[in-house]
Amino acid sequence: MSEQSLRKVVVVNGPNLGRLGVREPEIYGHANLETLRAKCAQWGKGLGLDVEVRQSDDEAEVIHWMHQAVDEQTPVVLNPAAFTHYSYGLADAAAQVSDAGLPLVEVHISNPAARESFRRHSVISPVATGTIMGFGFDGYRLALEAIAVRVKNVG
Ligand code: DQA
Repeated sequence: MSEQSLRKVVVVNGPNLGRLGVREPEIYGHANLETLRAKCAQWGKGLGLDVEVRQSDDEAEVIHWMHQAVDEQTPVVLNPAAFTHYSYGLADAAAQVSDAGLPLVEVHISNPAARESFRRHSVISPVATGTIMGFGFDGYRLALEAIAVRVKNVG
């Protein structure tokens, strides 16, 4: 498949995920965001996807990236990080992605359901196409595979 025909996918990471590798490595692992970026690019290539990994601590920027995904018809992998648990603004923005018929896969590196009680509720899950949690960075690979199948690049 030529570079031009690769379907673009954005992988959006919320607050504190720029600290991967140094933040609670016993929970999130020792690998950093650059490693995640390289892995996603490589996994994407194998699936016929052109993957761009972004990270922001700014809720407005993450919301803007959802609007951009709708306008550019781009499927989304979203690790909303702490926004997962309280951002109705991001939930409303994520709903616009799935309402546009674009896959929106929610990913968590850890398994929030097995952690503190405030992490057990996601305001994003009801508007996501699906949610993958607890598989470390592999969750992003699984999300990209799910998107590739849905955009009919594989499977
Ligand atoms: C997280 C889980 C969230 O509860 C937490 O706030 C994060 C990361 C995860 O990937 O496991 O920052 O989304």
